[in-house]
Parts: sequence; C-alpha cells; structure tokens
Amino acid sequence: MRRAVCPGSFDPVTLGHLDIVERASKIYDEVVVAVLVNKKKSSLYTVEERMAHLTEVTAGYGNVKVDSFYGLLVDYCRTQQIPVIVKGLRAISDFDYELQMAQMNHGLAGVETMFMTTNPLYSFLSSSLVKEVATFGGDVSGLVPELVHTSLLERMARP
Ligand code: PNS
Repeated sequence: MRRAVCPGSFDPVTLGHLDIVERASKIYDEVVVAVLVNKKKSSLYTVEERMAHLTEVTAGYGNVKVDSFYGLLVDYCRTQQIPVIVKGLRAISDFDYELQMAQMNHGLAGVETMFMTTNPLYSFLSSSLVKEVATFGGDVSGLVPELVHTSLLERMARP
C-alpha cells in the first residue's frame, strides 16, 4: 500500500492545503494529514481543533486520515512506516527552505519528499495571512473551508 504524509501546522487549514491533500489522495492509497504539535509557537486553534477541522473537511475523500505528531517528522514517518512526504510549493520563495527540509529529511532517514505545484488560485494563500485578514474583518470566505470560515467569524466576534 502506498502511503504519504501531508504535514503542517494547519492553523487554520486553507483551501490551498485542501487542494494538495485532495490531489495527493488520488495518487496514494492512503494520505495521513499530520498536524505538528509545536509548543513554541502560539496558535489560534488548538491541535485538537485543527484536527477536528481537518477530519471534517477530508471526510469525503475516503483514504485520508488525520493525526498529530511531536518532534521530528522523519521520526513520525519511521514509526508510522510512511516513506513519502507530500508538500505544496506556492512560489519560488518556498523553494529554498523546502529544498533544505527535503534534503535533511532524506539524509536523516531516507524519507522522500514529493512536491506538488500549488493551484495558482491559492498561490498567494497562507494560514498566517488568513488569520491577519480575518482579524481585521476582511473576507476570507473563498480561502478557507466553510466550517473554518464560520469558526473564524465566531472567534473574531469574541470580546
Ligand atoms: O505548515 P508549516 O508550519 O509550514 O509546516 C512545517 C512543518 C510542520 C512541515 C515542518 O516545520 C516540520 O516538518 N516540522 C517538524 C520538525 C522537523 O522535522 N524539523 C526538521 C525539518 S528538516
């Protein structure tokens, strides 16, 4: 069975993430969306909330599982026996760091990284920008899944 992992912070999941996960799910028998537990970084949503969003928005794909991991991605890959990481590349600005990570992950554990070019509709999109725009009342409805949009509106309305 061919398995791959789509790792990330997903704070929150965007339509750009979802596009990559959906396309990966058509290539691999099983795709695990793995949410990084990062105690150093402050987040809008807890890991559990992010996993709940991801579980709901990927439910229709049939072969996508949602999990979380702490520490090195290659250690997660090793314990889960997943040989491939799938990442989206939005622009050349993503490339330098992604190349470094891919080479490090291959050097550390022989884990391969497959890059998918992001759908141009989402090439400007990031979770950070979504949070910033939503914080100041901008419309992010076409950038995130509906349930995330609803949740962002509710969060931003809180005093
Ligand atoms: O959505 P993000 O925050 O851009 O995702 C980055 C992520 C989680 C894929 C990357 O930071 C990662 O793999 N972190 C796990 C720690 C690790 O393995 N670091 C070494 C990378 S070579």
